[in-house]
Amino acid sequence: MEPIKTSNPRIAVLATGGTIAGQAGDASRTAGYKAGVVGVDKLLEAVPALSQVAQIHAEQIASIDSKDMSIALWIALSQRINALLAQDDVDGIVVTHGTDTLEETAYLLHLTVKSDKPVVLTAAMRPSTALSADGPLNLLNAVTVAAQKSAWKQGVLVAFNNQIHSARDVTKTSTYAVDAFRSPEVGALGWVQDGRVEFQRAAVRPHTTRTPFDAQGALPAVEIVTSYAGASRAAIDAFVAAGVKGIVIAGTGNGSVHATLQQALADARKQGVAVVRSSRVGSGHVMRNGAASDDALGSVSAGTLNPYKARVLLMLALAANITNPAAIQQTFDTY
Ligand code: SIN
Repeated sequence: MEPIKTSNPRIAVLATGGTIAGQAGDASRTAGYKAGVVGVDKLLEAVPALSQVAQIHAEQIASIDSKDMSIALWIALSQRINALLAQDDVDGIVVTHGTDTLEETAYLLHLTVKSDKPVVLTAAMRPSTALSADGPLNLLNAVTVAAQKSAWKQGVLVAFNNQIHSARDVTKTSTYAVDAFRSPEVGALGWVQDGRVEFQRAAVRPHTTRTPFDAQGALPAVEIVTSYAGASRAAIDAFVAAGVKGIVIAGTGNGSVHATLQQALADARKQGVAVVRSSRVGSGHVMRNGAASDDALGSVSAGTLNPYKARVLLMLALAANITNPAAIQQTFDTY
């Protein structure tokens, strides 16, 4: 490992792949490229202005398309970040990532990093070889945010397209646009532009050092099932037979669940499977007992977490031996 230089601020850039490290044969192509092929040294070389912002230490953690993110890699990333942030000579972390599962990784880190120092994820919608690639400026902005004292104690952040989002709230909302990320209803925490960072609000729910969660070993299996017209119970029954510990429902509207799935979930509950109701709508919250009788079913409302983030929290809760519905509901109401 290359030593971290000693002048301030010292930011470790951990690369995992994604379109920000993507390469196409033709600069006019913004789709049909290969993600996660350009190494972190090349990404840094493309942004000479970084040297004016921070001393950079770079590590290539993985080189993947983030659709292939694994739980083993989540655990390795969380542990590496915690180890680096425990060093006095590291002031913050930037993680480069694919956009497709960025919100899941960001929320996992938000709940499992044990430090007040900044952790900032960034990504790109256009490959590094594209005309008007967005990765270099996103990387510069992410390092700029990670180097700020005002970014301490804010939990894990996502710097993208000049905005700064909380890992808890942010979600990908476009398949192609460079402003692909939003925090529905609550909005961004702030912005970064031309070296200036401004926070306009703070995330209020506990995170990082104020959670009981860690990513130390394997996480319990939790799967997601979507409710829709004519849904069958086959997926739920198969997951239960495979031994899952939890199921997150991406329900319709206010987390409502097709009657066929509701029966399958009641049977799953009898086998001790934790059930969390979220919504496939993309914004708003799911009310406890609002669209199903959670009290009768033993299910839990995900509140404002989308299905993918609800899965992350349920895995961490079950790993922390939070297993009864009331305690899981309390967890979802808290984090
Ligand atoms: C990925 O998620 O790795 C590919 C897509 C992207 O980064 O935009």
